[in-house]
Parts: sequence; structure tokens; C-alpha cells
Amino acid sequence: MTDHYAVIGNPVAHSKSPLIHAEFARQTNQDMTYETVLAPLDGFEETVERLRQEGYRGCNVTVPFKQEAWQLASELTPRALDAEAVNTLKFGDSATLGDNTDGAGLVADIAKNLKFEICGKRILLVGAGGAARGVIRPLLEAGPKEFVIANRTVARAQLLAEKFRIAAKSYSDLAGNQFDIVINATSSGLRDELPPLPENLFARDSLAYDMMYGRITPFMAFAEKEGASKISDGLGMLVEQAAESFFLWRGIRPETKPVIEKLRSC
Ligand code: ATR
Repeated sequence: MTDHYAVIGNPVAHSKSPLIHAEFARQTNQDMTYETVLAPLDGFEETVERLRQEGYRGCNVTVPFKQEAWQLASELTPRALDAEAVNTLKFGDSATLGDNTDGAGLVADIAKNLKFEICGKRILLVGAGGAARGVIRPLLEAGPKEFVIANRTVARAQLLAEKFRIAAKSYSDLAGNQFDIVINATSSGLRDELPPLPENLFARDSLAYDMMYGRITPFMAFAEKEGASKISDGLGMLVEQAAESFFLWRGIRPETKPVIEKLRSC
């Protein structure tokens, strides 16, 4: 019997997830479908309930419903609990398990695809919204030497710093500090803006990672000018978080590399 999955969002038509999961399913011989489902802004819960009634086995959740999904899940994985956001739901007989695979996806992309060691390194996470919160615990579990979070609204960074026992700074406080891994988790790139980061932020042999994908963001251009040795967008993270969701649903780990290459060539 064919199993059905979907990604729920608003907007959602642009999502690459159907393509990614179709590739995973083909590769691993899974009898499943995966489609986009547009939920009304005030109709997320009803949409999830409809899919469940129709026999769907699970779904991904994207903007702007990740917090609602967190509230709706009847069980949460530890990483979803930490993230206070859910991007993957798995429907059981009566329970709905909520997971968050974004952080694992980021760590897998950095460690496996970019082959950049996190253990022992100095990390700067730029931004303190939902995207940032979801990746802190998995990054900490990879064993960095130092972890600083910086945000325009410093109070938001401070709240996360207290929760995860890391350091919080304003952008101007960063002057004179250097990091091995700088991750942009702000939404500034959506408006072609750059957080006001100081110069000389990138240590020798450093990685600049933007969680956005699809184009060279002002952050990536800044990193290039400032001499970061590796610069990456978030396409690999997108595919890796999908692979984690796929594993949760199907119990099989698909190959991500050919899918990332395929998306890059589209
Ligand atoms: P998301 O779920 O994408 O993280 P969010 O919770 O609205 O969305 O958070 C957006 C993040 O991008 C915040 O860290 C925000 O900074 P503030 O908390 O100070 O608002 C950050 N951000 C957005 N545009 C920015 C810009 N032009 N410069 C710096 N930071 C920006």
C-alpha cells in the first residue's frame, strides 16, 4: 500500500521538499507519495487533522507553522522540545510525534558534506529567532570550544544564552573576536540586508554558513570579502534535514549527496 506524506506551509508552492523526498523514495524503493499542502493561515490544525483522517503517515511543517506544530504534537523528541518548533510530524494510531530535524541537518551538512570539523572550534551564531533556536543544541552536542550568539535585539540572544548556557553579545561587542564557524541564522538575506558584523571576524581556515539558499546573500558576499576560507549556503542543510525526516518516517537513511548535486544543477 502506498504511504502518503506532505509538507504543509503558507506559502508552500516553491518548496523543494517534494523533489527531495521523491528522490529519496526512488533511491530506497519506498512506495510513497509526497506533496505540498497549502494551509490557510488560521487553518493549520484543521489541515493536519484532515491529512491524518485521510490516512497520511506524517508531514513536514514549514513557515509559518513550526511553532503551532510544536503545540499540536502530543509527543516531542528532546531536540524538538529544545527548539520549541517542529518541522516533522509522524502520525501514530492516536499520538502525533513532533520532531525537529533542522539542527541535525545543519550539523550533518557542515561535518559530512563540507567536511568541516565542529569539535574544538569557536562558533558564532548570528540571529536569535526560530531558525537560530532550532540549531543550538545539535551544534553544542558536536563539541565546540566556544559558542557565542549575537543578535540585533540583544535581549533575545540573552534569553537563548541563559537557556543553553552560552554567551550572548551585541554586534558591536563582537569587535576584536574571531571565530572558526560563523552561521547566519537571521532572515536578513530575505531583504538583501546584512547584519552589521564587524571586520576581522573570520579566523584563519574558517567557515561562513548561511542557512538561506538559492542565491549569494549579502552575508556570503561579506564572508568572501573578509577572507573566510569556506562559504556555504543552506541547500545541503535543506536536504540533510529532509533525510532526517525520511529516516524518522521510513527507518532508512537515503544518500544525500546525489540529491544535493541534482538540486545545485537545476
Ligand atoms: P526565523 O524563524 O526565520 O528565525 P524570526 O524569529 O522572525 O524568524 O527571527 C528573525 C531573525 O533575523 C532575528 O534574529 C532578527 O533579529 P531581531 O531579533 O533583532 O529582530 C534577525 N534579523 C532580521 N533582519 C535582520 C537585519 N536586517 N539585520 C540583523 N538581523 C536581522
